[in-house]
Formats: sequence, structure tokens, C-alpha cells
Amino acid sequence: KPRLYSGMQPSADSLQIGNYIGALLQWRELQNSYEAFFSVVDLHALTVAQDPAELREKTRRTAAQYIAAGIEPTKSTLYVQSHVRAHAELAWILSTITGFGEAGRMTQFKDKSARYGADATSVGLFTYPVLMAADILLYQTDVVPVGDDQKQHVELTRDLAERFNSRFGETFTVPIPVIQKDTARIYDLQNPTSKMSKSAESDAGVLWLLDDPSASAKKIMRAVTDNEGSVRYDRENKPGVSNLLTIYAALTGRQIAAIEDEYAGRGYGDFKKGLAEVVTGEFGPVRERVLELLDDPAELDRILAANAERADAVADATLSDVYDRVGLLRRV
Ligand code: TYM
Repeated sequence: KPRLYSGMQPSADSLQIGNYIGALLQWRELQNSYEAFFSVVDLHALTVAQDPAELREKTRRTAAQYIAAGIEPTKSTLYVQSHVRAHAELAWILSTITGFGEAGRMTQFKDKSARYGADATSVGLFTYPVLMAADILLYQTDVVPVGDDQKQHVELTRDLAERFNSRFGETFTVPIPVIQKDTARIYDLQNPTSKMSKSAESDAGVLWLLDDPSASAKKIMRAVTDNEGSVRYDRENKPGVSNLLTIYAALTGRQIAAIEDEYAGRGYGDFKKGLAEVVTGEFGPVRERVLELLDDPAELDRILAANAERADAVADATLSDVYDRVGLLRRV
């Protein structure tokens, strides 16, 4: 089977619906046809300040959400990035073949560093994409399913793999990004021209997987729309309604046109009520399962440990090959 790799940061107590639709739903499907590796990228989360106790808890919670959403830890390898030491080690080697200017062109870095200012921007944030390349390349990955905000990082990963291979001989599989067009970007409910994000300034525009149902419903009812009053997909002129339609279609597996037909001649209130039912119906069972899993953290830790062992075996083989190729002396 071809290999698949993807991951998420444990940067909040809960994932948001963009992570769920843009990533988890695809992962759940794809794990059947690929040998899949899914990580909770806690080393990446350290690129911005974290409270240590909270980070540990968020890491467990993120893993629990993967499982509750249908990632099967016996079928796929679901592990915590820092449990596999090879990630940090390969990131170092790759950083030595990454151009300073090349890394500086990453738009996510440019956005974040502009927001934080030079002194609050860590070197780790700058080299973040190199660590991401290490994640992917360690597993000889064929495909990387991500939302479109991560596409540039996967392109960098391809460049680094090709550069390494041409300098040191065939070592890495060159991965391709897989981006689901329709759901590549879910937008903030209050600000439907910007991406929904775990680090949004206001909570009102973010639908959290672990919100209680009444909170999710309230946020949907208050979502920004427009004055036209017709439920119609038009990304340009009706970003709010279009975003809600995208969410509706992704969660029900229905075509947007069919949903437009169903709500033709009815107001936004009806449409939002319908969507609130869809969202809370989808999230309810996931939330219950997460709470069950978190009730037994020892069992969860045991699952993660067993999975890290499988990941370790694959990653170590690649790293050892890399060390040989670049000329590091073996310890005998
Ligand atoms: P992260 O944690 O920001 O997001 C996890 C995944 O969710 C997708 N996503 C979205 N999709 C649609 N609409 C949105 N509003 C939305 N917000 C987030 C992201 O595109 C991503 O697929 N650097 C990565 C984590 C990472 C990784 C990797 C991914 C580290 N190593 C290796 C793939 C392979 C990140 O910060 O994702």
C-alpha cells in the first residue's frame, strides 16, 4: 500500500470544524487505502509559547479527537511527534540544506512573524516547515492530505527531498500534497473571508468539535450572512452563506445544489437551524467518545506508546540511511 502522512498541532483544547472537515474526514476515508501515519505535532506547538501542563493535556485531547473521529489506532499509526526522536534529528540535517531565503518565503511564517513582531518570533517558528518536511520524509510518504494553507510547506518538502536525493543519492520518496478542493478552506463564521483557525481572536466565529451543542447552535444562528435572503452559493458576493453551505454539504455528503433547492424560498433562519442540527448531530457522538477516552488517560497513553513504537521503526531506518549518506561517522 502507498504511504500517507498528516498531522495537526495540539494548539487548543479542541479542534475546530475546519480541522474536522478539511483534514479528519479525509483521513478517516483514506486510512483504508493507504498505510497511514497521523501525528499530534507537539514539537511544532512549541514554536509559540505554551503552558507545559496545558500542552501535555492538549496533546492527549488532540489524540483522543483523532480516535473519536474515526482514526483507528490499530489500522493507522497514530502517535505523538515527540515520542519519535528521529523527527528532531532529521529536521537538523534538512535545515543544513534549506536556504535562509527559501525558508523566509514561507507565507505562514511571514504572516505570523508580522503579527508577533521580531522579538516574539522564535527561530523555531522560522524552521517550522523544515520540521514538517522531516515528519513527512521520515516515512517515505507518497501523499500528504492537508488544507490549502499547508500546501506551500509540502512544496518545500518536495524541494528538499529532491535536493537531498540529487546531492546524496536516492534516499527519500518525493511526496505529493492532496488537497480536497471544496473543503480546503473553512472560514470564520464572523469573518467569512478569513480562514477559521484555532488561534482566532474571537471565539464567536469558531465551531469547536468539543463545544456543547447549544453553544455550537448559537454560533451558527449568529453567523454573518448578507441582506439578500436567499440560500445560494456565491463565494465572491455571499461568503458567509457559501461557507455555511460548504459545511452543510461536507457533513451530509450532499451536493450544494440539492441543499440550495431544499431551502429555496425559505429564510436564513430555517437554513441555519437545519445546519445547527447537522453540526450538533455530527459532533455529539464524537464529543461523547472523546470524554470516554479522556476518562482513561492511562489506556490512551498505552495506545500512543504502542503506535510510537511502530512509527519509530520506520523513522529510524530512514534516519540511519540519511546519517550514512551525509557522512556522519557511525558509533560502533
Ligand atoms: P494545523 O494544526 O494548523 O491544521 C491541521 C489540518 O487542518 C487543516 N485546516 C483547515 N482546513 C480547512 N479549513 C480550515 N479553516 C482549516 N484550518 C486548518 C490544515 O490545513 C491541516 O491539514 N503544519 C501543520 C501540521 C503538520 C503537518 C505535518 C501536516 C506538521 N507536520 C506533516 C501534514 C504533514 C499544521 O499546523 O496544521
